[in-house]
Amino acid sequence: MAEKMARPVIVVHGGADFTVQIDNKQAIVDGLCKAARRGYEILQSEDSNAVRAVVEAVSVLEDDENFNAGRGSTLNRDGKIQTDAMVMNGKNLKCGGVSAVMNIANPVYLAEQVMEKTNHCLLTAQYANDFAKKVGMETVDMETLMSPRSRRLLESISIAREEGRVNDAKKETVLGKDTGKDTVGAIALDKNGNLACATSTGGLSLALPGRVGDSALPGCGGYADNHFGACSTTGIGEDIMRVNMATRAMYYLEQGQSAQDAAVNSVQYLVDRLKPSDSKGCLAGLIVIDKQGNIGIHCSHDFLCFASIKNGKIQYGINPDEFESTGL
Ligand code: GLY
Repeated sequence: MAEKMARPVIVVHGGADFTVQIDNKQAIVDGLCKAARRGYEILQSEDSNAVRAVVEAVSVLEDDENFNAGRGSTLNRDGKIQTDAMVMNGKNLKCGGVSAVMNIANPVYLAEQVMEKTNHCLLTAQYANDFAKKVGMETVDMETLMSPRSRRLLESISIAREEGRVNDAKKETVLGKDTGKDTVGAIALDKNGNLACATSTGGLSLALPGRVGDSALPGCGGYADNHFGACSTTGIGEDIMRVNMATRAMYYLEQGQSAQDAAVNSVQYLVDRLKPSDSKGCLAGLIVIDKQGNIGIHCSHDFLCFASIKNGKIQYGINPDEFESTGL
């Protein structure tokens, strides 16, 4: 007797932010829908494969300069692009990640290679770049990864340096206000009932060189386990790492919570435990699916842009509470 097939589901996000004030809403929504469609196409194919679907969906967002990942990555304090990414296979719990890599256009492909071709879970910095060469991955000039936003930031950094402000730990001193969105990610359920997640980021603007965020780390930037579900997170990596937010979402699913409750309660746990003193508070959000393909999306603030495809219907928005739906 043929095995029962699951109905494929994909959810992608383009990052959380403190504010919904953006001037490129349409471009963001278009990019997210394109990524979701790319992943869904793979899920619908004969070789329905959740890992390939999330990797390809994230690569679409990495290629889009409207997002802080791959080609649109923000800059560290040295004015350099340094990226983190991870992928995880919920069938066998294999995962791969790269952190603080430079000159790679699609860090998610490199993370996938770490998962598929090594016995390790994470390679870092120059060593990850050496591995990229070994597997034949092209190295690109950093210039080609810079978006207009990053170029403006580079200018601000050099002005701040001239004015002696560059050592100030607060990025607001250099930026005025943060204009970059945080991180991209995807989660999927394929026809065979397998789950996967992938996450990729240019990290926090003006971070110290060598800083590694949550997005490279299983249990923080994402997690996938066929027994429970999958998730991908976004927000301030330091906060997310402190509570292992992706693991927390899995724990809530294991306890029998719905995907939406797991998302809401994971963010609430972070906020309750970290008790932010800053007026802006913590920034954390995530997308979740359970093993039946039910979706949860939540963020500590109003901005968490996303798109999902389920039962041939696409939903998208820049705020999880206000979204639009259309046919595919
Ligand atoms: N969430 C991305 C980062 O903090 O690096």
